[in-house]
Amino acid sequence: MAARIERVKGRRVWDSRGRPTVEVEVAIHGGARGRAIAPAGASTGSGEAVDLRDGGAAFGGLDVARAVGGVDAEIGSALRGMDAADQEAIDRRLIELDGTPGKQRLGGNALIATSMAVAHAAAAADGVPLWKHLARGNRPGALPLPEIQIFGGGAHAARRLDVQDFMVIAVGAEDYGTALDWTAEVYRAAGKLLAASDRIAGVADEGGFWPMFETNEEALDLLVNAIERAGFTPGEDVAISLDIAATQLGRGGQYALAREGRRLTSEDMIAMLLGWLRKYPIVAIEDPLAEDDSAGIAAFTRAAGASVEVVGDDFICTDPRRIAAAADIGACNTALIKPNQIGTLTETKAALDAARAAGWNAIVSARSGETEDVTIVHLAVGWGIEQLKVGSFTRSERMAKWNEGLRLADELPTGLKLPERGRFRW
Ligand code: PGA
Ligand code: ZN
Repeated sequence: MAARIERVKGRRVWDSRGRPTVEVEVAIHGGARGRAIAPAGASTGSGEAVDLRDGGAAFGGLDVARAVGGVDAEIGSALRGMDAADQEAIDRRLIELDGTPGKQRLGGNALIATSMAVAHAAAAADGVPLWKHLARGNRPGALPLPEIQIFGGGAHAARRLDVQDFMVIAVGAEDYGTALDWTAEVYRAAGKLLAASDRIAGVADEGGFWPMFETNEEALDLLVNAIERAGFTPGEDVAISLDIAATQLGRGGQYALAREGRRLTSEDMIAMLLGWLRKYPIVAIEDPLAEDDSAGIAAFTRAAGASVEVVGDDFICTDPRRIAAAADIGACNTALIKPNQIGTLTETKAALDAARAAGWNAIVSARSGETEDVTIVHLAVGWGIEQLKVGSFTRSERMAKWNEGLRLADELPTGLKLPERGRFRW
């Protein structure tokens, strides 16, 4: 029986940075309901779907009254009567209705919240959890391997550090629960080391420590130390992963490390990162060079990609065409999958398919501005995405996602099991 959409309602709610964002609720004839909230980035790629914001004085111009109005009026009328189980038809309708390449007319925020809310409603109408609805009869994936932020920098911490995310991956953990346990211990050890050296400046946007270091290498040294203090072997039990978010550091092949007062060319950046790979137990590097430096990203992938995940975020923007083009020139070997970068679930799945076609790994990711919405955890499991990145191991907009994984373990045939390891060192 089709899950006919009866009503689509938008609502302004608040994200983890205290900014307005769009929630959408979809009601199905017969009583089923689905709800989802759009997240928001701070270090956004220029190729991302554009959020519709009101401008003006209120809330720094970030209000979403127009986006919510569009959900209630145009989007609601267009989707009423459609079958919520036909996600592709729903998303096609949303894309046509918006009619702009960047989704700026109705807003990427309105579109992704609607697209995800429809999936939740269809799952509810069917009486199954979202991951199962998304898996659609295919075997679901196992729980994803967590990639968890310990220090935040860059655009998420007033640039007190150049590198945006210093993260850990519990590569030696036998299951999802153990990966969380180990990360909790490393987080505590890092906090104690920072406090003892009087280096905590505050909390970064994704909940990690916002530390005071003079150089990026000091942060890496302390992280290795924290892994050891927590009783783990760096690289074997717990490894490091970095999001350089290099688009924030420069354009046109010129980069500035403000903390260290250094100006670097693309070649210098590559040499610096390769030096870090030799010195530290790093298993993944995201956006190693800026989104406009595809030659640099390809060169870095050639040099490092056999043993390390070279992850594309701003560079590929969850866009299947960009992923195929990047794969053609050998730039990156792993796709960061952020549904709101592209604007609908169907296009997000197409991005994942493009990554798979290229032989890449995939990491589903939250944004720096988040909420209690846990849709991405269900995407990871339903679509078999092997890694999950949602920020730190503090604050409920992050913990809601990690905890959702623990809940899903009870529903999965594989329980807490992690996916098969990929072809990289992790
Ligand atoms: P953003 O950061 O959500 O601010 O874009 C997350 C990331 O760069 O991975
Ligand atoms: Zn990133």
